[in-house]
Amino acid sequence: MAVVAVVGAQWGDEGKGHIVDILAARAQTVIRYGGGNNAGHTVVNRHGTFKLHMVPAGIFEPATLNIVGNGTVIDPKHFLGELDGLTARGIVVDNLRISDRAHVIMPYHAMQDRFDEALKGDAKIGTTGRGIGPAYADKMARIGIRVADLRDPALFRERLTAVLTIKNRLLTTYYQAEPLDFETIYREYVAYGQRLAPYIADVYPDVQHALESNQSILLEGAQGVLLDIDHGTYPFVTSSQPGIAGASQGAGIAPSEIDHVMGVFKAYATRVGSGPFPSEVDGVAADALRQMGKPWAEVGTTTGRLRRVGWFDAVAARYATRLNGIDRLAITKLDVLDEVAEISICVGYRHNGQLINHPPSQPETYAEVEPVYEVMPGWLSPTQGVRTWADLPANAQAYVNRLAELCGAQVSMVSVGPGHDQIIEVMPVL
Ligand code: GDP
Ligand code: IMO
Ligand code: MG
Repeated sequence: MAVVAVVGAQWGDEGKGHIVDILAARAQTVIRYGGGNNAGHTVVNRHGTFKLHMVPAGIFEPATLNIVGNGTVIDPKHFLGELDGLTARGIVVDNLRISDRAHVIMPYHAMQDRFDEALKGDAKIGTTGRGIGPAYADKMARIGIRVADLRDPALFRERLTAVLTIKNRLLTTYYQAEPLDFETIYREYVAYGQRLAPYIADVYPDVQHALESNQSILLEGAQGVLLDIDHGTYPFVTSSQPGIAGASQGAGIAPSEIDHVMGVFKAYATRVGSGPFPSEVDGVAADALRQMGKPWAEVGTTTGRLRRVGWFDAVAARYATRLNGIDRLAITKLDVLDEVAEISICVGYRHNGQLINHPPSQPETYAEVEPVYEVMPGWLSPTQGVRTWADLPANAQAYVNRLAELCGAQVSMVSVGPGHDQIIEVMPVL
């Protein structure tokens, strides 16, 4: 029985959904602790292929309680669409709870997100346009609407009146847009609140019960720690804390209760949106990593944008590991490297002739660093059918071992395909 946080340790899309789907059968509770529908978690299991945005990836296990934690931001219309999509495919979602402390993404948030990006021009972040940043900003500014507010029409009227006064002033003057109509939003969001009501709860007792009864609990991360608002490549980041601190805060679980921090890393690196990426490649190497045409091609799950691709960045990986207390590694998409004859690993950065061993704080400096590479021989044989460590080609074992050594953590899982059983468990956490 253990509490395990599954944390994206690069720039997102590491395969967190896949890892949580595998581990969920061994957990009694799964808590998604942060982010919103900027996330896209792919799960391929006996029910089919699913792209989850808000619903925890433990939803396919009827006996597992799935909680959407207080640290998330929820677009109710999108969320209900996701629930309808799951239900239409025969997935029962009765085992779902939404924390009443989670914040609501309102229509003005998506507008602000898009207007801000347009105003930034070339300096745009490349957000998902889903209103994530403005929703978190309002939470901090204490003008957010919470899920609990949607359930109480009278209270919601009061809250929305106050906020919309501010937002309409902002929309009409600063953004020079049309104001939003109070009654339209009010009616629409009260209706969402009613439909979501069966799932909304103060989840504190559920989480405490899970802890007190010594259940196994998974904390499902979204995004990745290099997109962290404090420690990521600011300002090219998201607006939440995808790492272990965000897990504790966003799930409502004390840090001391967390037994393992499982860092999920792709065997190479990808990034969607703008920002520094020293080990980025293009041309033939990029084509090999991007795997266009394959179901797991490097195309954004949420936005459909092509992901930028590059070699494993061990400098950034070690930084992520140290900052988040990552003690176990899940290395995913190893099979993508099956046909690569020579695999590079970025083991250092050079800046103005000096070697540096951690990411610089300013993106302008970060963009100037030159990667220092170590090259390892590929294994040039298929691994998608491999299920045990012993059956992995020696060069693949050596590559994974080298990544673990550079990160400074132990390998728990190696994933060799998107399917539920395409996993090599080296040191199980649960
Ligand atoms: P998440 O956001 O971290 O959950 O990751 P995404 O779902 O956005 O992106 C991961 C992609 O890789 C999805 O298409 C997965 O189905 C796929 N995937 C996950 N693990 C593996 C693996 O080991 N091998 C391959 N080929 N694909 C994988
Ligand atoms: P999952 O959970 C990859 C990126 C966006 C953009 C930046 C800010 O699937 O790993 P935002 O809309 O959050 O304000 O955009 O963060 N981003 C992600 N990239 N995977 C994600 O989630 C992401 N969520 C946000 O592309 O660069
Ligand atoms: Mg994703």
